[in-house]
Amino acid sequence: MSVPQPPPLPSIIGHRGAAGHAPENTLASIRTAATLGAAWVEFDAMLTGDGEIVLIHDERVDRTTDGNGRVAAMDLAVLRRLDAGSWFDPKFAGERIPTLGEAAALLADLGLGANVEIKPASGHERATGRAVGEFLANEWPEGLLAPILSSFSEEALDAARLAAPNVPRGLLVGRVPADWRGRLERLGCAGIHCAQKQLRPDQAEAILTAGIRLLAYTVNDADRARTLLGWGVEAVFTDYPDRLRDI
Ligand code: G3P
Ligand code: MG
Repeated sequence: MSVPQPPPLPSIIGHRGAAGHAPENTLASIRTAATLGAAWVEFDAMLTGDGEIVLIHDERVDRTTDGNGRVAAMDLAVLRRLDAGSWFDPKFAGERIPTLGEAAALLADLGLGANVEIKPASGHERATGRAVGEFLANEWPEGLLAPILSSFSEEALDAARLAAPNVPRGLLVGRVPADWRGRLERLGCAGIHCAQKQLRPDQAEAILTAGIRLLAYTVNDADRARTLLGWGVEAVFTDYPDRLRDI
């Protein structure tokens, strides 16, 4: 079976929007990334207690909002009352946790590409992958470039593939695992998204020689970005698109 491929990617992708300049995984963060010159953004997608998909990184709301509790145990209406901006800077007071639908509408407005990272709360791997896949198959705005789906969870990636077989996928890892070829093949992934700190040039070479797309997170230093791109890394995720704009 052929593996869906993303289009050629820009060298930099805004991480959680532009997490260095705005509260991560908010609409403000996505807007900021665009203002700072990013053509693509990455964000994290998690299921709420009532089956909606929202942008948030942690299983709990505590770090990035003024509330506390587990996202998977809270309904969207409750999550929407939280302030997701003040923790970062009072000037973002009132920023809300966005739904995937709101984020997709903003991407369409701004003409941005996206990497939707499926970030399941533990125990919700398949349900989260399926919900994100179904959203992409049925509700992604017409005319908006298909996103790349990625996840650390193989179960989530597999469930997403069943729901949206034509959307390109990348496997997220920290260190590149020894059995990367088999894992990518089994999951039908076009790419591997790895932690930049642990990537070695010989690994990059082997991955690229196999025709696999290689992305690296999180790169906030321009010299490091140049090195990685020199190894053939296609795109780096950065909290500071402005710092890397001129590489
Ligand atoms: O998708 C790249 C990166 O976001 C993966 O790590 O923890 O920032 O979601 P994390
Ligand atoms: Mg992420």
